[in-house]
Amino acid sequence: MSCENDLFCGINSVAGKSVDEMTELEKKHTPVITAPDKVKAGEPFEVKVETGVYVKHPNEYGHYFSWIEVYLDDTPVARFDLQPVMSSPSVTVKVTATHSHEGKRKIKARAFCNLHGVWENEKEVEVE
Ligand SMILES: [Fe+2]
Repeated sequence: MSCENDLFCGINSVAGKSVDEMTELEKKHTPVITAPDKVKAGEPFEVKVETGVYVKHPNEYGHYFSWIEVYLDDTPVARFDLQPVMSSPSVTVKVTATHSHEGKRKIKARAFCNLHGVWENEKEVEVE
């Protein structure tokens, strides 16, 4: 059985789509990751995850992002529980890639909207 049209089934992702190809719903929910393109193994770098970048998302008790998670590949890095008193929630964490994994790692960010489910984005980081 597929998750089609069920936003709460699995993880909603815009992988492979440009911003121009995204729907309004996707633009409103996709977290945006800012991180360096290239980092050194063992040296901390900053990862910023923002919501409401392409299209502003509501931020009230009936409709808001209630958490943001950050991963390095599939390794959990951080989780932030949110209340709708931040305007367009954004979080920043320091991450250290201790292994190069043949030079490529993926930063993943997930944001959960209480009405529209989990939304994921990712950014590749070169580790030398
Ligand atoms: Fe939403």
